[in-house]
Amino acid sequence: MRNFELINPVKIHFGKDTIAKLTQELPPNANIMLLYGGGSIKENGVYEQVTEALKNFDYIEFGGIPANPEYEILMDALTIIKSEKIDFLLAVGGGSVIDGVKFLSAAALYEGEEPWDILAKAIRTDVGMPFGTVLTLPATGTEMNSGSVISRREIGQKLAMGGPGLFPKFSILDPSVVASIPKNQLANGITDAYTHVMEQYMTYPIGADLQDRFAESVMNSLVATAPKVMDNPADYTSAANFMWCCTMALNGLLQKGVPTDWAVHAIGHELTALYGIDHARTLAIIAPRHYHHFLESKKEKLAQYGERVWNITEGTLEERARMAITKTEEFFESLDIPTHLSDYIDDCEGTAEKVSETLRERGWIALGEHKTVTPEAVKVIVEGSY
Ligand code: NZQ
Ligand code: ZN
Repeated sequence: MRNFELINPVKIHFGKDTIAKLTQELPPNANIMLLYGGGSIKENGVYEQVTEALKNFDYIEFGGIPANPEYEILMDALTIIKSEKIDFLLAVGGGSVIDGVKFLSAAALYEGEEPWDILAKAIRTDVGMPFGTVLTLPATGTEMNSGSVISRREIGQKLAMGGPGLFPKFSILDPSVVASIPKNQLANGITDAYTHVMEQYMTYPIGADLQDRFAESVMNSLVATAPKVMDNPADYTSAANFMWCCTMALNGLLQKGVPTDWAVHAIGHELTALYGIDHARTLAIIAPRHYHHFLESKKEKLAQYGERVWNITEGTLEERARMAITKTEEFFESLDIPTHLSDYIDDCEGTAEKVSETLRERGWIALGEHKTVTPEAVKVIVEGSY
């Protein structure tokens, strides 16, 4: 096992009726901005619960943060944050709203000229404006981590940022919010969280037994919960398991002391930037091809995963590894998540070249746990996904 530090300062309130806890978590004299997305919170009762809790606080609202949070819209919020002297941000939404607020937390205190540089130049945020979250869509884990992904359609880019200053002060996780999530977004959430675990697991064995078993537990729980939550998102028990799996999948715990990959995400983000395909769906397109391409270096972990998550015990190591990939693809498809690029766009031609070239231009020439995911490999993987 490798050396590691474990820091996670996010206070979690998990459970029914926890949105009311905002009254005890928000700083009493703060000048708050409440931020949300396209309006789902006004239809499912979350907005009422939040504004009820905020009634004795000073706050203004900023709605309309879209999926794949858009830089230009966030810049409008930034102008208001500055003119209204806002000093605390409250994100109420899914990954897009929370990530948007993380960007604003960094940008509000950033002293450079151009806030886009935080993303383009990968400037780490050590101190951000304090913020809290009320999660409405389990998926990304952003509610308990310090990363964010921001899109800028004007230049076709989707880039990540982060730093120790970007952990939420608190996150409120009430699984009751899951009841109103449409099926396609539930499927996205399950697929995203599942792939987060795979990115931190499907590498090579280093004898980190507990981390492996943590990761397998999250995958086993997601596999067991997926059909239940898809069938009835109003079932509190399934919703609670789904929500906690998603948070635990990317709050920093699983990756401690082990190698990680993250190439599936890097490639997937480019497909969202090019075609606007939902984040999770890009992962389902890329992951199977990526694992086939790197079968040789990943086969031990693939086979271990196959045995412990899918009960695959027959065949050679390589056969079991291949079967594990097939099972993974079937799992995504069972959620109505198609796993080929051509299922999403009419003309795939040229995509592999574009993605590979963009990663090369950005200097990302060696992704993955062995730094072997070169632009050439990316091209083959994306081509294989057509
Ligand atoms: O905008 P509203 O009206 O709220 O509707 C949203 C949106 O249309 C809707 N929704 C959310 N909660 C709902 C609901 N509808 C009904 N009932 C509810 N309770 O769902 C739609 C999608 O929301 P979005 O926030 O975009 O989804 P998600 O949570 O999957 O976030 C995706 C974004 O997170 C990034 C992705 O790249 C993408 O931009 N990620 C962030 C990560 C991180 N910060 O750690 C890691 C991930 O790998 C990922 O990259
Ligand atoms: Zn993801």
